[in-house]
Amino acid sequence: MSSEFPSDAQFLDSLLTEASRAPSVHNVQNARWSFIEEEVQLWADNSARLPVADPTGHDDRLSLGCAWEGMALAGLRRGWRLSAPDFVENWGDPPSKSCAGTRLMARGRWIPDRPNAAETHLLEWVWKRRCHRGNFRSPALDQARLWHEGLTRLSFRFQSLHGKDLKWLNSLGDSAAAELFRETGYPEELRHWLKLNPAEEGYHEWGLNREVLGLNAWEAKAVEIAFRPSVMQRIRASPLISVLSAEAPKANSAWAVLLLYAPLDEDPFETGRRQYRFWLELAALGLCTWPLSAAVDVPSARKQLEAKFLTPPGQRLLNAVRVGSPDQEKGPTCRRTPRSLWRRSEL
Ligand SMILES: Cc1cc2nc3c(=O)[nH]c(=O)nc-3n(C[C@H](O)[C@H](O)[C@H](O)COP(=O)(O)O)c2cc1C
Repeated sequence: MSSEFPSDAQFLDSLLTEASRAPSVHNVQNARWSFIEEEVQLWADNSARLPVADPTGHDDRLSLGCAWEGMALAGLRRGWRLSAPDFVENWGDPPSKSCAGTRLMARGRWIPDRPNAAETHLLEWVWKRRCHRGNFRSPALDQARLWHEGLTRLSFRFQSLHGKDLKWLNSLGDSAAAELFRETGYPEELRHWLKLNPAEEGYHEWGLNREVLGLNAWEAKAVEIAFRPSVMQRIRASPLISVLSAEAPKANSAWAVLLLYAPLDEDPFETGRRQYRFWLELAALGLCTWPLSAAVDVPSARKQLEAKFLTPPGQRLLNAVRVGSPDQEKGPTCRRTPRSLWRRSEL
């Protein structure tokens, strides 16, 4: 094998396309990359920040960690291992050098190597994993037993809730989402990330498009109308907002909801790297994810959640994720075109 990291456009394009399979909050695709011989630089797109939904930048950094892991897995498939990130901007630092709307976050190096057995297994799921926002199928007893057993072997700290607890949490999440819609600038912020018309520029590059949200053409039209500023202004103050933001009618069919925990002092970037692998492990078990960030992000809901389900010592509640098997076979993950900048020289 050549020890020189390829620099031709076709290779880099396929690498970036595969790396962009990694999840990001609202599918903002906030990672930008540059490749300078064996060096990789990860840049953060400042315009992908979500000041209302993510005021501290936690999810922004977590998404960058997912992206790093996406790049690492894409490299491994091609015979290159990405070194551990060397951070330019650490968690909690003031923003680093900003250039053309991006900040340099971390550097790494490619080293020729092959994936190990666990990584080879994860690679099988990169193109098949996707979030599912819809109805779930009720599993047969054998299937549920296999899931229970499978979950005990996974790498993330969590507790799984079922039945009444799942429904309680979905209802809490819906109330939290309605509060976000009613009382904050969340609808305006979310509207920017909705991409409901396939003819729109960048439809396959970023944001919550119809495929990501699992909407048919009629549903997409209804959402588009509801999010028009003049319409939203009226419905956000009315009981209709609870209908618009309600996920429980579908999410109650999930098999379980997992409360995810991360060490109190863990950098969200590292959490994001582990979380992406965890989501791939769930996909390998046949489980699709449907996150419920509102229940954890809205302080009043989080308080109730933490009072009912105690957080293990030394851990923090990271997120809640519904899991199950979709009620109908879905195609592979939706198409995604990388949104990265390539820079050839140090800035
Ligand atoms: C930190 C984080 C928080 C997320 N929160 C939610 C959420 O509250 N609701 C939701 O439906 N999806 C949530 N997602 C899922 C993303 O929207 C999803 O991963 C993205 O749209 C890409 O789609 P894919 O995972 O199907 O590839 C979250 C993802 C991340 C990384």
